Amino acid sequence: MIQSDYNGVHMSEEWIKIIAPATISNLGPGFDVFGMALQKPFDTIMVRKIDQGIIISSIEGQGADGIPREADLNSAGIAAAEVLRRCDAEFGLEMKIVKGIRPCSGIGSSGASAAGGAFAAHVLCDQVLSTMELVMCAAHAEEVTSGGLHADNVAPCIMGGFTAIRSYQPFEAISIQPPRNLGVVVAMPDVMVSTMESRKVLPHEVKVSDLVFHVGNASCFVHAMQTGDLDLLGRSVRDAVFEPARVNLIPYLKQAEDIAMSLGAKASFLGGSGPCVISFIDTDMMDGQNIADSIRDMYHENGIGCESWVTSWGLGCKRV
Ligand code: HSE
Repeated sequence: MIQSDYNGVHMSEEWIKIIAPATISNLGPGFDVFGMALQKPFDTIMVRKIDQGIIISSIEGQGADGIPREADLNSAGIAAAEVLRRCDAEFGLEMKIVKGIRPCSGIGSSGASAAGGAFAAHVLCDQVLSTMELVMCAAHAEEVTSGGLHADNVAPCIMGGFTAIRSYQPFEAISIQPPRNLGVVVAMPDVMVSTMESRKVLPHEVKVSDLVFHVGNASCFVHAMQTGDLDLLGRSVRDAVFEPARVNLIPYLKQAEDIAMSLGAKASFLGGSGPCVISFIDTDMMDGQNIADSIRDMYHENGIGCESWVTSWGLGCKRV
């Protein structure tokens, strides 16, 4: 049914609802290459067709006040517009966004909005694009909002599980189902780190010895993800270049990682561009709550608020 009630624009009444999960990118050696979807938290995006253009009629939830409503500045709006453009769609969209993922957190907040916006628009375009094209639509939004083309959050957000990007040009990524017993502890200190700013501190060149170190760890990481060897996985979460360059942007990062490792985590590392501190655990051995509580308490003792929770890997965007 069509009605005309929004500034004279004709609207369809049928809303579709998408959830788009948080994601962890980089995962040690895989800067701009590796990513993994989480079960929680997630953004919720409601979309319906309108005659033309993209209208973001509401943004609620975590950090909503700081997120632009102009569709050409908003991750979800930019990604959705790219899908409509590639599909030659003859309609526009109205979007309502509920942010479950705090912006500037390092767990793919803008990536979730971009992926969710692209995914929702794609459902309304009868899903004619390939998965790689859809990921690129979302990555385009990441490029506009973060100043650098990276798809390591949007790829797992759309494809689910663990993803590795073989190439950006042409774009090709694979997904692997992570081990059943891979648990994830997330600690999110009350520090805001924008991806755009944290990419500015990165080196422009790397040493051959660091390249060798990353290729070795990345190769074994993928093997461990595929075979379920959590010890090898933990040993392979190593980063000689990017996390060291960012360490000063995240207070008490090393202390948080040391706490997790001393309590039996398989690995502990910076999530994406930060500030979230991520720890991998074997859920057959522990529930991870002690790690979550201990890192949170350490931040509180140092005068910094912190939320922490235990979750697992997840399946990516879905219509609910
Ligand atoms: N790979 C990107 C970075 C992810 O580390 O800058 C940002 O979320």
